[in-house]
Amino acid sequence: MPENDVVFVDGVRTPFGRAGEKGMYWRTRADDLMVSAMMGLLERNPGIPHDRIDDVAVAATTQSGDQGLTLGRTTAILAGLPLSVPGYAIDRMCAGAMTAVTTVAGAIAFGAYDLALAGGVEHMGRHPLGGDVDPNPRFLSEKLVSPDALNMGITAERLHDRFPSLTKERADRFGMASQLKLEAAYQAGHIQPDLIPVATRSDEGYGLASEDEGRRPETTMEGLAALKTPFRPHGKVTAGNASPLTDGATIAAIASGSFARELGLPIKMKMVSFAFAGVEPEVMGLGPIPSTEKALAKAGLTIDDIGLFELNEAFAVQVLSLLDHFGIDDEDPRVNPYGGAIAVGHPLAASGVRLMIQLAHQFEAHPEVRYGLTAMCVGLGQGGSVIWENPHFTGGR
Ligand SMILES: CC(C)(COP(=O)(O)OP(=O)(O)OC[C@H]1O[C@@H](n2cnc3c(N)ncnc32)[C@H](O)[C@@H]1OP(=O)(O)O)[C@@H](O)C(=O)NCCC(=O)NCCS
Repeated sequence: MPENDVVFVDGVRTPFGRAGEKGMYWRTRADDLMVSAMMGLLERNPGIPHDRIDDVAVAATTQSGDQGLTLGRTTAILAGLPLSVPGYAIDRMCAGAMTAVTTVAGAIAFGAYDLALAGGVEHMGRHPLGGDVDPNPRFLSEKLVSPDALNMGITAERLHDRFPSLTKERADRFGMASQLKLEAAYQAGHIQPDLIPVATRSDEGYGLASEDEGRRPETTMEGLAALKTPFRPHGKVTAGNASPLTDGATIAAIASGSFARELGLPIKMKMVSFAFAGVEPEVMGLGPIPSTEKALAKAGLTIDDIGLFELNEAFAVQVLSLLDHFGIDDEDPRVNPYGGAIAVGHPLAASGVRLMIQLAHQFEAHPEVRYGLTAMCVGLGQGGSVIWENPHFTGGR
């Protein structure tokens, strides 16, 4: 246990939009998405004194243009925080927001900070995946990584190759379940409370984004079977079992337990442990397996202690590889009960806090669950895992 306990006070996000010209955020700046989320978080938590925010850590994978200029600082100023509040930018690709949270958590545990904001944003429409990168030629000339490692879809195909038991049928079924679970969660009102509506603009005029745009509740196995395999002829990865290209922002308030209690702030989750780990870049989707093992070991827990799982669905096959590793059924109700990134979208550096927001909501509904896991894979072969404890736990699992 850290010196100071670290708690998740609250987290919110923008609705996620489909990336590209037809998406609802095509004419919305990435930094403005974060500003909307940040203002929404502070508005619904009036107990957070703005001048007591010790830092603002905001992640983005592409850090240029409207995602450049040290996002934590720019968005804090734009959101109206006092100029005395510092901020910085952070990057661990898909695990950006997760790393923002664990980084400020380290500062809180050390006693340097009382409360900080941490999150991420990715506008994949304005910043296409891999569009602005210049990988060092040595990666390929010295065979440090296979060319496959640089295309996430191909790394997913390679997982299918490596584990023949991870069939396309299983991946499609998992993708469909994600869509149906998200729809059920919307119907039950589990998703909407943590969304901050965002004003949008299009040729038709002004609008208001209030729900995730990419949902496909009409998904069927027959429809999925007919989809193209864009990453490889006769492959297994399709638009139906992969996360779509997405625009969105997430932000959370992370504090020391004593500060939160002193100020009467909500405590939605308590951080137990976290870990990151590296794997072969060609099969980056395996990353959350060793990071979860490390996080469990640090916490002195086993996988059986975890009552709820929020696993980022970069690709169905990649989540399935983790479930197989730990002997968990594809349809285990503890896994992504509100669906996942295949249905809701995956704005890279924003997604880590989206997992935490969903887990926090489920903790409230499941006082019999003591521990939950948020975990995700990261490009170039990494995984990140954070284990959380449910403050509402009343006994049971
Ligand atoms: C897979 C991918 C290439 C698909 O991109 P796309 O072709 O622009 O996706 P679309 O949303 O247009 O979907 C393609 C087609 O599948 C259809 N489709 C998608 N999901 C579907 C579903 N659940 N059911 C039925 N049809 C579906 C679409 O309607 C579309 O059909 P159309 O071509 O007839 O219009 C893209 O989403 C991708 O690259 N995803 C991975 C992102 C990534 O790597 N993230 C980082 C992870 S580490």
